[in-house]
Amino acid sequence: MRIASKLFFLIIGLALAVPGFAAKDPLKNAMKARQGEMQLRAFNVGPLFAMAKGKIDYDAAMANKLAGNLKLLLDLDTSRHWPKGSDIDNYMGDTTALPKIWTTYPEIGEYGKKYATAVNELAAEAGNGVDALKSKIGAVGKSCKGCHDEFREMQ
Ligand code: HEC
Repeated sequence: MRIASKLFFLIIGLALAVPGFAAKDPLKNAMKARQGEMQLRAFNVGPLFAMAKGKIDYDAAMANKLAGNLKLLLDLDTSRHWPKGSDIDNYMGDTTALPKIWTTYPEIGEYGKKYATAVNELAAEAGNGVDALKSKIGAVGKSCKGCHDEFREMQ
């Protein structure tokens, strides 16, 4: 009897847990993944801006590494990060992604290409002195902002 009732509760427990897990919205995971990637971009590019502005000392090895990290992120296949419907109209509070990303697709790809070009150029020069860094960092910042202005709801 006791074993039977334990088994009963175990089965009930599983029955409750499994649908709960299955019901977890996969679009929310995708939004978290892309926001995580954006956070990595910001975390790596931040000190590069600070070096270019003279807010922290220029460090060639660090500049090279940080720009290399940005370049490495370009290799991620992020296609699963942007499922249709995962926009601010459907997920207010979870995302700042505008529906325009999907309604004008593939326009955003052009902004992504500009960003990739800017990052590749930065990665080639960031370790070659503060002037070299300065000459390439502006285009990176512009490409971040350019895309955000078009495709992100800014508070
Ligand atoms: C091609 C377009 C594009 C480019 C280029 C781009 N972003 Fe974004 N970024 C977005 C979109 C769209 C969102 C909104 C994502 C969301 O909320 O789901 C976003 C969100 C963010 C966020 C907020 C993430 C969060 O936790 O909500 C940060 C930080 C960010 N981007 C930093 C950057 C930085 C730094 C760069 C450049 C080094 C950059 N982005 C380049 C499109 C872009």
